Amino acid sequence: MDKIIKLTANENFYGCSPLVNQAILNHLDKVYLYPDYQQNTLKIKIAEINKVSASNIMLGVGSVGIIDAIIRLLVATDEEIITFERSFVAYGQLSERYQKKIHFAPLDHFACQTENIFPFLNEKTRVIFIANPNNPTGTVIDHQSLKNFIRNVPKDIYVVIDEAYLEYVTDPSFPDSVQLLEQFPNVIILRGFSKVYGIAGLRIGYGIASEKTATFLENHRLPYAINSVSAFAAMAALDDQDFMKTCVQKNTIEREYLYKGLKNAGYNVIPSQGNYLFMYFDTEYEKEQVHQKLAVKGIMVCNLAVFGQDLSLRIAIPDREVNERILDILGVPVQVAEDE
Ligand SMILES: Cc1ncc(COP(=O)(O)O)c(C=O)c1O
Repeated sequence: MDKIIKLTANENFYGCSPLVNQAILNHLDKVYLYPDYQQNTLKIKIAEINKVSASNIMLGVGSVGIIDAIIRLLVATDEEIITFERSFVAYGQLSERYQKKIHFAPLDHFACQTENIFPFLNEKTRVIFIANPNNPTGTVIDHQSLKNFIRNVPKDIYVVIDEAYLEYVTDPSFPDSVQLLEQFPNVIILRGFSKVYGIAGLRIGYGIASEKTATFLENHRLPYAINSVSAFAAMAALDDQDFMKTCVQKNTIEREYLYKGLKNAGYNVIPSQGNYLFMYFDTEYEKEQVHQKLAVKGIMVCNLAVFGQDLSLRIAIPDREVNERILDILGVPVQVAEDE
């Protein structure tokens, strides 16, 4: 049996920085102590990297912890949420859990067009979630489009810009969301440690918002929710920017390699700005063929039907060796890189 290679959840194929492992080991004999209640040291570090003040930072048990708090605390029972169809599933799942009405704006050929949100906007709308890059399609909204959109949204509606994959973006038109927050205090930015920083299992994420919103959400966080091991690991992850950049560089090369290989072989695949590729099919049969061919060789990719998103698969970008195996399994001739 081939070794199982899990490409289902957009984790960092290269793991995490050795500094993170060391930080965890260094902390092992102190886990009997409660963690820092406020986590100010971590917040200051996050604030420095993002060029904001620590009072703008909020922490969560993963960025889903903050999504949960936003839906639970900022949206009243009779108020509404808008996001895009084919976006991060947690927006819909958590809205349903808390019995908040959510609308799903359509995509235009798998891209998020902000104009498609307006027909769903009404006096009950309280929060709009925009994943940028979008998961699972990997498409991005550019700075000017996002700015124009936020300008036209009433100021009492929170626009949540979820940038879980920010570091992987290479498109120069990608928004400077911190600048948007400076202009529009109703913006909430979500970022995290689960993707390029490689500590998804430790469940820690952060958001950047106006001081008022960040303070409110921080004050409502479960006491001691941010455990000490995760906090030390997150700080170590931020300290190793070289590791992060190396992972981004490899991802950029391998994302292009896999995209071109699949595209040239006639598969429907969307150019991605994240660490994953979105493939779509005309029939369930064609999708299952690809899914199964990879699965029997131990390569697990995400069948998006599990999220109610039919006829599509999402593949987290692996390294060259696994990419070549994927292309080989799918009958794609191996490409010779230009520099080889
Ligand atoms: C767009 C998006 N936002 C948030 C998350 C959740 O990240 P975390 O592990 O920080 O909760 C994910 C995870 O896949 C995601 O794709």
